[in-house]
Amino acid sequence: MTSSELRERFAASIMPNYGVPPVALTLGRGCEVYDADGRQYLDLIAGIAVSSLGHGHPALVKAVAHQAATLAHTSNLFVHEREVQLAERLVGLLGGDAKVFFANSGTEANEAALKLVKRAAGSGRHYFVAADKGFHGRSAGSLALTGKESIREPFGPFGMDVRFVPHGDLEALTEAVDENCVAVFVEPTQGEAGVVPAPEGYLAGVRALCDETGAAFVLDEIQSGIGRTGQWFAHQEEGVRPDVLTLAKGLGGGLPIGACVGFGRYADAFHKGDHGSTFGGNPVACAAALAVIDTIESEGLLAHTSVMGDLLAEQIEGVKHPLLAGQRGSGLWRALELTGPHAAHVQEQAAVRGFLVNAVAPDAIRIAPPLVITPEQIGVFIEALPTVLDAAEAAATKEHQS
Ligand SMILES: Cc1ncc(COP(=O)(O)O)c(C=O)c1O
Repeated sequence: MTSSELRERFAASIMPNYGVPPVALTLGRGCEVYDADGRQYLDLIAGIAVSSLGHGHPALVKAVAHQAATLAHTSNLFVHEREVQLAERLVGLLGGDAKVFFANSGTEANEAALKLVKRAAGSGRHYFVAADKGFHGRSAGSLALTGKESIREPFGPFGMDVRFVPHGDLEALTEAVDENCVAVFVEPTQGEAGVVPAPEGYLAGVRALCDETGAAFVLDEIQSGIGRTGQWFAHQEEGVRPDVLTLAKGLGGGLPIGACVGFGRYADAFHKGDHGSTFGGNPVACAAALAVIDTIESEGLLAHTSVMGDLLAEQIEGVKHPLLAGQRGSGLWRALELTGPHAAHVQEQAAVRGFLVNAVAPDAIRIAPPLVITPEQIGVFIEALPTVLDAAEAAATKEHQS
């Protein structure tokens, strides 16, 4: 089966919401993946910040295979050890005084957070505050909180009063939040907006405002959590703790899992029967997440991520090209800032030369490789980057002329 045949079958059988992705993948090994025609790529996007251990990591393979062969599914009618172990591990990494609800994806983790804060707020509070251009998922509640108008508006109204403020603007947030606010939903760095960090001190400001007004502080670390920034969690950098934390993506290293963590009084805010999921906390997904956490620890991947992230940033800064304005982000979660809306061409030309990157915004390329990427692999990409940018520039010029 060739890539083009597979893409044709995709178009004929899969709904058109994703369009037809340009590359058809069949195999992954470490940071390398192969398409259906046998072409090799350096994976610099890791399934959108998911495959943190790379592809086919023996620890993940062993944990998943063993669990699938032992007990693949229980539902929430039964207790099983992997789920309890994983919750304990997460609570340990977060410093205690917390409990976890497991879901299957990011959007479901945020739906759980939404219900949790509503339950904890009681009846007086009636509105939410979230950030312009923010992204919290595609299901109705998460979408209502999503600041990207183009993807939210066609599906509203949602029956929720959500007020949007500019990302990272503490003054605007202070204006918007009072004692009638249920919760503030924040990303530490906006991933889908183009890896846009909040200014230093912003999370501490959100914490103080929520303490003052009694609104819940919900931190969406679905993209930033589990090592991506070189810390277990991005909020640990600022030494603040939210009331509710949501996780997914890198947690399962490629297996679908999400988590909603409640701290303090939010740990026990749900009543029995308030929420549930047939697959949430599935043993195979939990075994994968345990393997991810163990491997990040045993292979020193937090420190490695910081070092590789700094190296990547430094080397990008060293590339001088008219299309490249600079870079932003932290750890192995970066955006190439382009001087114009050339991201689609850069993504395409990178793939032609064997690099998978993501045109996350018209003028930004997201780079979020597996956390196991090596200096040599970063070097290969940086060496090719000027050629990729030249080709993107030529393609843009050609498009403009035609
Ligand atoms: C910050 C953030 N929240 C929520 C989500 C939704 O996650 P999922 O696609 O797993 O539903 C995403 C996905 O990109 C995300 O980046």
